[in-house]
Amino acid sequence: MINLKEEIAKLISEQVADLTEEEIKGMIETPQDQKMGDYAFPCFRLAKVLRKAPPLIAKDIADAIRDNDIFSDVQQVNAYVNMFISKEEFVEEVVEEVMAKGDEYGRSNVGEGKPVIVEFSSPNIAKPFHIGHIRSTVIGNSINLLWDAMGYKVTRINHLGDYGTQFGKMIVAYRHWGNEEDVRREPIKTLLHYYTKFHEEAEKDPSLDDEARETFAKLEQGGKEETELWQWFRDESLKEFKRVYNMLGIEYDSYAGESFYSDKMPAVVQELKDKNLLVESNGAEIVDLEPYGLTPAPILKSDGSTLYITRDLACAKYRKATYDFYKNIYVVASQQNLHFQQLKKILELMGYEWSKDIIHVPFGLVSLEEGTMSTRHGRVVFLEDVLNRAIDETREIIKEKGVATDNIEETAKQVGVGAVVFNELSNNRIKDYVFSWKQVLDFNGETGPYVQYTYARCASILRNAGDDAKDLSGFDPSYITGEAAYTLAKEIYALTDVIIEAGEKYEPSILTRHIVDMAQAFNKFYHDEHILTDDKEERKAKLALVVAAKTAIKNGLRLLGMEAPERM
Ligand code: ARG
Repeated sequence: MINLKEEIAKLISEQVADLTEEEIKGMIETPQDQKMGDYAFPCFRLAKVLRKAPPLIAKDIADAIRDNDIFSDVQQVNAYVNMFISKEEFVEEVVEEVMAKGDEYGRSNVGEGKPVIVEFSSPNIAKPFHIGHIRSTVIGNSINLLWDAMGYKVTRINHLGDYGTQFGKMIVAYRHWGNEEDVRREPIKTLLHYYTKFHEEAEKDPSLDDEARETFAKLEQGGKEETELWQWFRDESLKEFKRVYNMLGIEYDSYAGESFYSDKMPAVVQELKDKNLLVESNGAEIVDLEPYGLTPAPILKSDGSTLYITRDLACAKYRKATYDFYKNIYVVASQQNLHFQQLKKILELMGYEWSKDIIHVPFGLVSLEEGTMSTRHGRVVFLEDVLNRAIDETREIIKEKGVATDNIEETAKQVGVGAVVFNELSNNRIKDYVFSWKQVLDFNGETGPYVQYTYARCASILRNAGDDAKDLSGFDPSYITGEAAYTLAKEIYALTDVIIEAGEKYEPSILTRHIVDMAQAFNKFYHDEHILTDDKEERKAKLALVVAAKTAIKNGLRLLGMEAPERM
């Protein structure tokens, strides 16, 4: 599609030799007030180079570019060139483009195929996959989809927390109080129970902590029994995680988690030593980051075992060598801000200029109306339970409302899961928020169900139009230049740029907001105008706009990781 701003910049640059097209593009404004046009170009900056008063410059430019199909009018007002886009040209251009591109509409190629890693979700094995994980999982998935739509080659990685001292605890607990049957039946809840029990017992008997440390050391050294138990816990946990990923439609290219780097650690530690970055502190080896205003990063414990950040150092190096990433994006809670600052700094001190391409995308806390969670005390809300409850409640609402659908189960799943996802992505990611059922399942607010319902409404109009909706080419755009139709076309037109903005800012809520805007613009059009009119030509043009709206909403929802039901 023509990029209007670029097109205008090109026209103006032919008149102004002193500025580049890019500079001109940057100067073009979109006035708040429609009376000042769709685009405006201020001429103040040109006065010096052209040695002419700005209004005169504006007049010259206006006169020179006026005679062009894309404009309905071009006016000089003081130092401004105010440009009015021809509505007919515009809606025709937009609607034809969306119809031609279909599922591809909204994609761009700003990424030019550059390799990018998006790491997200990354839960800890044998720990509950709870409501707190929804953020990394859902925000990360959307960022992955956005970057893919921007034309980057994305590798999706789940950096499982499948290593560390907690496995010593888990193994010890299992040996003392465990039972194979229970683990098989309900792995994570059972393992969590052991973990909780371990902490209770260790408070009374501190020798358990020593036992756990020794056990983890054995695991690191490749002890057979320990490794087998660990592998078993990992397999069972992963099965549960994957059930949730399935519900959310999330896929990964790699599950290389912390344990994957265990054999790559000695080399990193050696490298840190060689580069004189390690210092001893109370028997442990650390990197002193005080000169950079950061707390020291512990690399090796006094017993020689490695730490979380040691594994992340090995991981970053491995990823650079394996994927040669343009950006390595980590979608991880803001509680780990310090960790990622340390990681970046150490990589920089090691001399890796690509340390600047390590991007930590933080997000705030999610809490429950009933209070905070605590893994240690077993007070958790499982993500799978949240999704299932959303599906159950949606099924009830669908039945109550007597919604016409051929497959209640499928629709309840699309809408229930979608409601949770949309709600998660409605919030600016850095803000803490409280999870509220009332908000999630509101069919009338600015929610997932509302947008999906709008989509289903588009689908229903097209079904009712029957054969009339089959071939919409050559529609007459003059029927869809009324205020509501034109506003809708503008919202649809903006989608590609919004996707790029949301991606570059790592902020899916920008897209969520825009999808609501598109849905609202569509509903206004639906209420203001009679779509299935008797006039054949008018009906055709309006149906074409419905197809465009439907396509744009669907493509937007897909980048949030949501489905769009045809009936609801
Ligand atoms: N497993 C960690 C947690 O649950 C998150 C991992 C983040 N990624 C990383 N490369 N450190 O807190």
